[in-house]
Amino acid sequence: MENFTSRIKGFHNLSFEEKLQKIKELRGLSEEDIETLKATNPPYELFDRMIENNIGIMQIPIGLATNFIVDGKEVLIPMAVEESSVVAAASNLARMTREHGGFMTSNTGSIMIGQIQVLDLDTPYFAAQKIHMEKEKILKLANDQDPILVKFGGGAVDIETRIIDSAVGDMLIVHLVVNALDAMGANAVNTMAEAVAPLIEEITGGKVRLRILSNLADKRVVRASAVFDKELLGGDDVVWGMIEAWAFAEADPYRAATHNKGIMNAISAITVATANDWRAIEAGAHSYAARHGYYGSLTKYEIDDDGNLVGTIELPLALGIIGGASRIHPTAQVNLKIMGIEKAQELAAIVASVGLAQNAAALRALASEGIQKGHMKLHARNVAAQAGAKGDEVDKVAARMIEEGKVRMDRAIEVLEEIRKS
Ligand code: MEV
Repeated sequence: MENFTSRIKGFHNLSFEEKLQKIKELRGLSEEDIETLKATNPPYELFDRMIENNIGIMQIPIGLATNFIVDGKEVLIPMAVEESSVVAAASNLARMTREHGGFMTSNTGSIMIGQIQVLDLDTPYFAAQKIHMEKEKILKLANDQDPILVKFGGGAVDIETRIIDSAVGDMLIVHLVVNALDAMGANAVNTMAEAVAPLIEEITGGKVRLRILSNLADKRVVRASAVFDKELLGGDDVVWGMIEAWAFAEADPYRAATHNKGIMNAISAITVATANDWRAIEAGAHSYAARHGYYGSLTKYEIDDDGNLVGTIELPLALGIIGGASRIHPTAQVNLKIMGIEKAQELAAIVASVGLAQNAAALRALASEGIQKGHMKLHARNVAAQAGAKGDEVDKVAARMIEEGKVRMDRAIEVLEEIRKS
């Protein structure tokens, strides 16, 4: 099982059942794991406890991204996403990094920030100084809230203060810096921030209003890089076209929004597949992209001496594998097993890598043939199925529509009738 390759040729040509068998063999899944993936027996009781007024389940397909090597390890990656082409595009670009070792990552640790807003201060700088003088007392009170986190080496580790000028005047913002280890950290950080608030009022003489985690998790940053092979990309022109496409995103927030959205196609898909908080991840990514005062790209590209494209991504990823929904959601558990994840930082490394591959895929398509050609294939199959095509009729109707350049419902119905008559 350990000696497997994520380069599974022809995986997309297998039937649904064959794909499940393949992944079962490769990743040592149980029959129960397979039933979980197929959602034959959805955990209704769990969902009913998870949110209020539960009335159903929203199903999103899980696609398996292939070809990835992350930090020297072959990895298969489940992505939960409703958009066609996303999984294929990421897998395709991952293939182009394999000869160059795949994706290499680093991270700044699992450090989260809790914010405590202190108001009504005549001397906010002096109040900040008092907070620093009482740092150990504040950290101890914070850590008393989560002895388990502390036991495993995490917990509140530092205090930062900022004075910000706001619409209601100066305010002191105290940052409680917390190592969340393998958890996303929202519960631990919010509990700690609420617990230390009265002490902070006592120390400063001010009034605490908000006590809440910041999703701009800029102390939980992950970086991933990869060399995309020039020849496989399509040569020097394509590489240069991708650099120009990226430069556009760096220089223009209208383009950067779409560029980063493409990155989040991958990042949110894995975040959803592992039942992590994708809104938190999205908020963190976009606020990080604007951290210099303008909204820019989350990726950078360069060309190496051999003409290959070298990509790097950098963003905060507050992802957990314990606590929260990822721990109790059975499908999330199977998806973590497929990826072979044991630490939250391994998950973050994979997520950043797929984000980079996704972005490179979009840039390559946009800088050459455009994205519609790739999209059309799957779209045509969907239109064919909606027109009533069954089994191999779907591919036949889709192929004809693509050949004619007319992917439309009316044409799908006509082609289907013709096929059935002949
Ligand atoms: C579509 O979901 C994502 C793209 O628009 C990303 C991009 O433009 O870079 C293709």
